[in-house]
Amino acid sequence: MNCLTSKRILLGITGGVAAYKAAELVRRLRERGAEVRVVMTQAAQAFITPLTLQALSGQRVHTDLLDPEAEAAMGHIELARWTDAVLVAPATADFLARLAQGRADDLLATLCLATRAPLAVAPAMNQAMWTNPATRDNLALLARRGVRVWGPAEGAQACGETGPGRLLEPEALLDRLDGLFADGALAGRRVLITAGPTREAIDPVRFLSNRSSGKMGYALAAAAVEAGALVTLVSGPVALDCPPGVTRVWAEDALSMHALVQERAGQADIFIATAAVADYRPRQVATAKLKKDAATLNLELERNPDILAAVAAMPNAPFCMGFAAETDNLVAHARKKRLAKGLDLVAANWVGAPGQGFDSDDNALELFWEGGQESLPEAPKTRLARELIGIIARLYQEKYPQGTPQDLHAQDSA
Ligand code: CTP
Repeated sequence: MNCLTSKRILLGITGGVAAYKAAELVRRLRERGAEVRVVMTQAAQAFITPLTLQALSGQRVHTDLLDPEAEAAMGHIELARWTDAVLVAPATADFLARLAQGRADDLLATLCLATRAPLAVAPAMNQAMWTNPATRDNLALLARRGVRVWGPAEGAQACGETGPGRLLEPEALLDRLDGLFADGALAGRRVLITAGPTREAIDPVRFLSNRSSGKMGYALAAAAVEAGALVTLVSGPVALDCPPGVTRVWAEDALSMHALVQERAGQADIFIATAAVADYRPRQVATAKLKKDAATLNLELERNPDILAAVAAMPNAPFCMGFAAETDNLVAHARKKRLAKGLDLVAANWVGAPGQGFDSDDNALELFWEGGQESLPEAPKTRLARELIGIIARLYQEKYPQGTPQDLHAQDSA
């Protein structure tokens, strides 16, 4: 696929050894039909010359915020408006820090602040700088603001160390840029996702829970962002990083997850429930730690609300998708679950199959919707998530060719 034809790409280069790879990137971008303008920081010019990039891009390279001649030709605001996407590659730790602070102390930082186009950064730095909490915090902040973070890759570094911090290869960056324009399938749509397990308190130190890792939900959140959606992830306790561009809120138990979803579902276009919500919670939560006085202990449990079914039953419900974990009769059970909960789409998987399902990196899914079904064979959850988001976008579009229930509702009440 090539969606880069005629796209205007502003490539920012900052001062790192990997700056030399930017030359190859410019060449490949032009091969794919993109128009490229290059902006370099002062430090970048110590690693690669503007002349090289001028020759490769076929355009004058921009280096100075206060250069009257350059400003007269194409001012920084014009440049910020001209571009369809900004990619900073390589992005140094220092540049990420300046971006996080919203500084406008050089041309590239100013452009990043002034543009409304999607902004992506491809970090490259020493692995210790990459794992430093200061860099992590800056990246988390940027991701929350919707900045896309591509890479880094792991491997041998110019400094002689090995670890994360290598610039993604030009081909991988091209694919990401391509995806930015290709996967607008959910552009502007609001997607709400639940993920992970819940913990149902027994006493102040104990809880009932399950083995859900949250990987599928997190992969779907990342894929939905890639497809242009505004994504909120209501997550149970998991040890996963929040995907870039996703807004995450934490939920401990089923009741709090239910409340957080209820607050947000009215504004969502699409709701995807991947959380392994505990079906029951202890009827009483002991206020002090339970002592092992007796030989046996009975816990009385009560049902938790079905978060997904409650959203699907809302007036103006979003497009609803749920998962079904089955050990037998998968097709019949999944179809029944879809109808019982009033879902637009259900994805069923076998549990107990080796290497699939809970806590695994791979999965295989059987999808069922009104009048259709499809199998997604075993694949990494990240790939499966992209395919699934593509299918959700298609079904959603078929269901609401005129716009979402939320849009129509907003028009009615205007
Ligand atoms: N779900 C939910 N709230 C619950 C229980 C489940 O939102 N209290 C959602 C899950 O996120 C998932 C789907 O509903 O999308 C799973 O439905 P569930 O009835 O729990 O099916 P299984 O987990 O397959 O369990 P069972 O077959 O025992 O009903």
